[in-house]
Amino acid sequence: MNVTSGGNELLKESLWETKNRRGRKRVIVTKPLPGERWLHLLFEANCRVEICQSEEILSSKEIIKAIGEHCDGAIGQLTEQWNEEVFRTLKHAGGVVYSNYAVGYNNVDVSAATRCGIAVGNTPGVLTETTAELAIALTLAAARRIVEADGFMRSGKYIGWLPTLYLGNLLFGKTVGVIGAGRIGATYARMMVKGFSMDLIYHDIRRNHDLERDLIQFGEFVHSSGRKEVRVTYSKSIDRVLKEADVISLHPVLDTSTRHLINPERLRLMKKDAILVNASRGPVIDEAGLVAHLKTHPEFRVGLDVYENEPSTAQGLRDCPNAVIVPHIGSATGWTRKGMSILAAANIAAVLNRYPAWGETNDMHPFLSNTPPKAAPSIVNAKDVGILPYS
Ligand code: DGY
Repeated sequence: MNVTSGGNELLKESLWETKNRRGRKRVIVTKPLPGERWLHLLFEANCRVEICQSEEILSSKEIIKAIGEHCDGAIGQLTEQWNEEVFRTLKHAGGVVYSNYAVGYNNVDVSAATRCGIAVGNTPGVLTETTAELAIALTLAAARRIVEADGFMRSGKYIGWLPTLYLGNLLFGKTVGVIGAGRIGATYARMMVKGFSMDLIYHDIRRNHDLERDLIQFGEFVHSSGRKEVRVTYSKSIDRVLKEADVISLHPVLDTSTRHLINPERLRLMKKDAILVNASRGPVIDEAGLVAHLKTHPEFRVGLDVYENEPSTAQGLRDCPNAVIVPHIGSATGWTRKGMSILAAANIAAVLNRYPAWGETNDMHPFLSNTPPKAAPSIVNAKDVGILPYS
């Protein structure tokens, strides 16, 4: 363990570990990241890398202290507030790039970063299937009451098979509702429709024609082989999705229009035994309202990966047997987390090297190869800070 060069009084110096002391550019990383490759990308870009070893969430004040007088770039976490003050400090310290270690960046004031001329990166593409699979796991766990049944088993209460023990919901042939059909929502929809022959009703601001084409083709194929047809419906109305679906999974980005998208009125629109899944961002659901609904509707079940005020949960949520709750592990597979490390580091290294931006494509696999492109994988404000597109 080494001493930070940021002159930090709030953080214990021993919590920061420095790698490649001789690097000429200084990059701070607010949590240890999985894998090794990401570090080498930064070493190759002549970076000295300082990594905070604490598991505690850094406040903006602590981040400002860590940035110190000289800092060229930073990798931060979705649990931290990268706000105007932080970006002004980073700019003052000579910083030109920040990468969130996440695909979502609702914790980042991108406009403030842009005003400071700082590029903002994120890590899409490597967590799509991983997060969709977690949403599926929550769906199945809620539908088949896996956590309740597991607790029953462990407590030694099982005295023999019963026709009425832990009756859950069948998914096969029912209707799945998806709100937000971007990368993760569309992947979840495909998995549910193809895996359980479900009909899909979805809402997004934009229609997802690729998803529709894919599932219509699938529907024709299963129909031609004599199995149940599947139907795909795009709905402009969120309420219609909530009314018609047996399972609803939430995948919108979090912004002012989606905060408390699911509120007590909307919960009342849903079927009494519906399953609601959220692996997007907690504030999309009014969590206190959800707890009240869970208490009065024992057959309504939820699977939650995210919470309105993480790491806290709304009062009473943890006592609801009809809630499956996990600690924001949507992207938590080794492969994905290593991939996220590589993309975050590649964003930093590329901007420091003045490389162009990879562009709109979703395919991040080239960056995981041994010969990555000379480009920044994903800079959300590339155009606004004058980073040219890769060609
Ligand atoms: C993200 O990347 O936005 C996820 O929430 C991390 O799991």
